[in-house]
Amino acid sequence: MLRHLGVHAPRLAFNFKSSLIHGGRGKTLTTRAFSSSAAVSPPSKAIVYEAHGEPDTVTKLVEVPAVEVKEKDVCVKMLAAPINPSDINRIQGVYPVRPEPPAVGGYEGVGEVHSVGSSVTSLSPGDWVIPSPPSFGTWQTYIVNDEKVWHKIEKGVPMEYAATITVNPLTALLMLEHCVTLNSGDAIVQNGATSMVGQCVIQIAKSRGIHNINIIRDRPGVDEVKERLKNLGADEVFTESELEVKNVKSLLGGIPEPVLGFNCVGGNAASLVLKFLRQGGTMVTYGGMSKKPVSVSTSSFIFKDISLRGFWLQKWLSTDKAEESRGMIDRLLSLVQEGKLKYKMDLAPFEDFNTALDKALGKLGSQPKQVIKF
Ligand SMILES: NC(=O)c1ccc[n+]([C@@H]2O[C@H](COP(=O)([O-])OP(=O)(O)OC[C@H]3O[C@@H](n4cnc5c(N)ncnc54)[C@H](OP(=O)(O)O)[C@@H]3O)[C@@H](O)[C@H]2O)c1
Repeated sequence: MLRHLGVHAPRLAFNFKSSLIHGGRGKTLTTRAFSSSAAVSPPSKAIVYEAHGEPDTVTKLVEVPAVEVKEKDVCVKMLAAPINPSDINRIQGVYPVRPEPPAVGGYEGVGEVHSVGSSVTSLSPGDWVIPSPPSFGTWQTYIVNDEKVWHKIEKGVPMEYAATITVNPLTALLMLEHCVTLNSGDAIVQNGATSMVGQCVIQIAKSRGIHNINIIRDRPGVDEVKERLKNLGADEVFTESELEVKNVKSLLGGIPEPVLGFNCVGGNAASLVLKFLRQGGTMVTYGGMSKKPVSVSTSSFIFKDISLRGFWLQKWLSTDKAEESRGMIDRLLSLVQEGKLKYKMDLAPFEDFNTALDKALGKLGSQPKQVIKF
């Protein structure tokens, strides 16, 4: 299954099952040392889960012994990696493609090449690289994996952007380019507009002259959030309660009815996206943050001929898109360097992983994307 989806798991330094000393949340666990005369990585520290479950109860910090760096391998010192909703779902065991536990958490990130195997020619110590396509197990301080897994990037990009450029910005770009044909002057509507994907959708749409209508959850400090999204290029931002009106389209002013909607929430927030769509419009579901199903009225199908679709980056990447995706990532990183793509993040020290995880789990209210700095 993993091979089929083009996912390359890094070699783990040891068999977690036989080596783990069990401990509570946040405890450091020590394991046996690696003994070999071959080139080896430094010892690593990793956030590991031994079984599926709630991430704040099943994850542990583990000390991982050195692992052999074979001739085609590259040993990377990780610099930063985000905690994405899909990372949480993989640990919970509810994501369709996931490593079997015991496993190291994380799926994307950025690192600096520490050492290379004897036949590696494309990378040198000091280069910045990202796993591309993304690869399981980025929440650890050193990763050893085959040369071809790593994509070299410019060093000038802030590390938190390099660490997060694949999963969310690439999804935003692909959904805007591949779901329906959009022309300058068209409009789109999305919920979850505060998400990293949502913020990228706003900016990429704006740069193409596409109007964007945004739906967010009600919250304290809503004006500040609206202001921030408008500064990114949002044409309109509504809270869900502001859309409890009979005719939402009366709120659009001069903006045309949207041809395309993005839904990453489900439940009422998905119904609001549908309410905005024009005759023959399409709603693309790519996430389910509320864990509530999407309900569609019969009249939406009969009288509006609405189409429903889905998008899954991991599936897209599996269809021989490695080279194409690297080109798109370079394009997105250039936009970051030009100041044309930005999003809110918290850079959290690795030692504070538990707090960052609590924030990512929503236990401390709405928070920016949590990015671990190793
Ligand atoms: N299909 C794919 O290939 C693909 C790729 C990338 C991402 N995704 C999905 O896209 C979504 C956004 O990911 P992200 O990394 O961009 O998000 P993120 O930056 O981590 O932000 C989380 C977002 O979810 C919202 N949220 C959290 N809990 C919620 C709840 N119970 N009800 C409604 N909204 C809630 C937050 O809203 P507040 O600001 O109100 O807290 C925020 O907008 C996720 O569902 C993710 O799995 C899918």
